[in-house]
Amino acid sequence: MAETTNKIVLVGFMGCGKSTVSRLLAKELGWRRIDTDDEIVEREGRSVAAIFEEAGEQGFRKIESNLIASILTEPEPAVIATGGGAVLAEANRQAMLAYSYVVALKADAEQIIARVQADTGRPLLAGDAANRVPLLLEQRKTVYDFAPTIIDTTSLTPEQVAAAILDGFKQQQ
Ligand code: S3P
Repeated sequence: MAETTNKIVLVGFMGCGKSTVSRLLAKELGWRRIDTDDEIVEREGRSVAAIFEEAGEQGFRKIESNLIASILTEPEPAVIATGGGAVLAEANRQAMLAYSYVVALKADAEQIIARVQADTGRPLLAGDAANRVPLLLEQRKTVYDFAPTIIDTTSLTPEQVAAAILDGFKQQQ
């Protein structure tokens, strides 16, 4: 990472608190907040589920990668909440490390399932979070480990997570 950066990127599996924590961080820092899924939906004019259906996961990943590359090189400070699969592409991981302070959030499977169960907007869960989450977690066991900072959010409040991130961020500036 560059000596100083004005980007904080949150990565992690679905339901680990990226959106909530990014809101708190952006408010605290007075920075813009970008949720890559929301941004994709806005730019594409269709839902994540519709993109998966019409362009496949690969099509979604292409849009996601292009967006991440462009956000990271914008001059304005930003807190960026990424989708759970944004780290699957090596190029995305490299860009995040080069341009931002990257924090991975993780949580226990039970807690993730509880948080995402009612959600119908995540195509990879296919309406069956209880079975899909453990399978995907296993597939993605190590993909978030590239982040220099990893925080287990299972027994922390979003405020505690945000405070820990801010401490770490300020220390390395
Ligand atoms: C995905 C996570 C989702 C969204 C898409 C794919 C994934 O974002 O990008 O459904 O591959 O883990 P959240 O992590 O914000 O749910």
